[in-house]
Amino acid sequence: MNNLLEVQGLSVSLPQSGVAGARSVLSNVSFAVSRGAVLGIVGGSGSGKTTLGLALLGLLPSVMVLAGGQVIFDGRELTKLSPEEWRALRGAGISMAFQEPMSAFDPVMTIGAQIQETVLAHEKISSAAARERALEALRLSGLADPVRIAAAYAFELSGGLRQRAMIAQALACRPALLIADEPTSSLDVNTQEKILELFQELRRSLGLSIIIITHDLGVVRRTADEVVVLCRGVVVEQGKVAQMMSAPRADYTRLLLEAEG
Ligand SMILES: Nc1ncnc2c1ncn2[C@@H]1O[C@H](COP(=O)(O)OP(=O)(O)O)[C@@H](O)[C@H]1O
Ligand SMILES: [Mg+2]
Repeated sequence: MNNLLEVQGLSVSLPQSGVAGARSVLSNVSFAVSRGAVLGIVGGSGSGKTTLGLALLGLLPSVMVLAGGQVIFDGRELTKLSPEEWRALRGAGISMAFQEPMSAFDPVMTIGAQIQETVLAHEKISSAAARERALEALRLSGLADPVRIAAAYAFELSGGLRQRAMIAQALACRPALLIADEPTSSLDVNTQEKILELFQELRRSLGLSIIIITHDLGVVRRTADEVVVLCRGVVVEQGKVAQMMSAPRADYTRLLLEAEG
């Protein structure tokens, strides 16, 4: 089994989307991620990127339905999993660093306590061991002083530190696939660069497979091997990043390239 993840013909719809009836959010999306590879998913706002990530975690918003397709992770079809099976897979198999770390973290709980809680929800280990795992995940995410970060609240951290803490939360249960949703969008250019370096480091040291979701082709160019370009829920281009940069096939990709300058 070479591919860690295979998505085949995935469709998601909004059944009650006003007077117009059902609306398609993702339509027949197919792609694969091989082990240790980085895939970029790029598209404008509202193109369905976050929905795609959530679908891979079994976390679609309640107003949406999976209208078709298969998600095969590590040889296992996920779309028919029970809620308990999804819970077991989430975090430990596939995990997601969410788009807005500020709202993804509980504001009244320390970062360390939240990561520890995530670990305890998945593994039968002591709370001391879970705390060690939280510190280890913070260290893996490039935080030099994990004890200080663990004791902090989300609002006390800079955007870059908060993004690293979000990544640590996603890594704490040792997933094989990390989905990072817009990991750099609210950061200054220097901090963006450091976060992108972190992904390369995690890939090297852990053999982690990574899906980076972004509206910024520059992020894809710097980190990913392959790319999926989404426009209004439809894949308009996919393949090797180098090929897309040098000879984009879709008009939409050309527009994104021009936007990047
Ligand atoms: N909870 C929700 N309820 C209704 N519509 C939603 C919800 N979340 C997203 N959508 C709609 O689904 C489409 C895709 O959204 P999203 O996946 O967030 O796009 P992206 O992450 O690419 O910006 C958009 O049209 C958005 O308005
Ligand atoms: Mg999004």
